Amino acid sequence: MNKRAIITGTGRYLPPRVVTNFDMEKMINTTDAWIRERSGISERHWAEPGVGTSDLAVEAAKLALAASRTEASEVDFIIAATLSPDHYFPGIGVLVQAKLGLSNIGALDIRNQCSGFLYALSVGEQYIKAGTYQKILLVAAELQSSNLDFSDEGRDMAVLFGDGAGAVVIEPATADDGRGILSTHLHCDGRFVTDLWMENPSPKKNPVFSEELFKAHQFFPRMDGRNVFKNASERMPEAVLAGLKHNGLTIDDVALLIPHQANDRISQMVAKKLRIPLEKVARNIERYGNTTAASIPIALDEAVSEGRLKPNDIVVLTAFGSGFTWASSVIRW
Ligand SMILES: CC(C)(COP(=O)(O)OP(=O)(O)OC[C@H]1O[C@@H](n2cnc3c(N)ncnc32)[C@H](O)[C@@H]1OP(=O)(O)O)[C@@H](O)C(=O)NCCC(=O)NCCS
Repeated sequence: MNKRAIITGTGRYLPPRVVTNFDMEKMINTTDAWIRERSGISERHWAEPGVGTSDLAVEAAKLALAASRTEASEVDFIIAATLSPDHYFPGIGVLVQAKLGLSNIGALDIRNQCSGFLYALSVGEQYIKAGTYQKILLVAAELQSSNLDFSDEGRDMAVLFGDGAGAVVIEPATADDGRGILSTHLHCDGRFVTDLWMENPSPKKNPVFSEELFKAHQFFPRMDGRNVFKNASERMPEAVLAGLKHNGLTIDDVALLIPHQANDRISQMVAKKLRIPLEKVARNIERYGNTTAASIPIALDEAVSEGRLKPNDIVVLTAFGSGFTWASSVIRW
């Protein structure tokens, strides 16, 4: 029989520097009130120059390994999700592997932006079920503060994003008690690529880097905030309901919903559409901003450290982001 995958440890790491909305007021044409009213964000963490996404990832990974009582040497596969890798190539998976003192084991990089952690979880789950690997380290990390457009053109995005990392260890469930990852559902709609993207640097341009692109602020992420908002508020509830239905569950069975922390207004809208009380919804965007792929494992680790999850609780994770991509996962904790 295929073994179910279970999360045996979680970890999170936020770089120490806290940047408040009042700090942002000094850098950008914005106000604390605008940011809080539109997004619920009060502050975010920014890494210092010289720190890489893989450094944040490794810190979260070490904590997840410790929580699952796993030695780094026992990890037999790494899956790393980010849209902000240290380098154009290679991805951060190999860097995480080397920084943990490991060699030989495979490391896979996942490129699904805010849905990256759930895509990674889905891939890892399949490997566990197939019996290919026994202890997979999943890490999602982002360092976005070094590529924000502080001009009026980019201020809508610049105030939203933060740096951080979250990680989990997954392995085959040993008990036959129904606990573990019950399902993952992945979706995308590539027609919306240009609604949330970073067009450059692009190998389509020759040369890839040019002064013109730089001067035209074309190396920054861009979005159609309204369309992102609308789609995020619709797609995440759909994915949650599809996941619950697949498992014969209803929203009343859910102990905790962890939506990607894109915007607190989106989280509230998702809760309203699903008719789930806000007390059952993880909401930490106020302190971290949108940490893209890292937001779900960060929120999951916070829920664990706050004692919000009991064995057998149904936890539902859901994400939405650039692509558009979206996803859900139903877990019996
Ligand atoms: C970005 C977002 C907060 C903007 O909110 P909104 O309600 O659509 O914005 P509004 O229409 O009320 O305001 C837009 C105005 O604010 C201005 N504005 C944009 N960013 C601003 C900022 N940081 N500070 C002050 N004003 C800003 C705009 O220039 C525009 O001005 P104008 O009306 O004079 O043209 C919202 O669209 C959003 O959160 N979208 C989803 C974003 C997201 O989650 N992305 C990641 C998904 S993974």
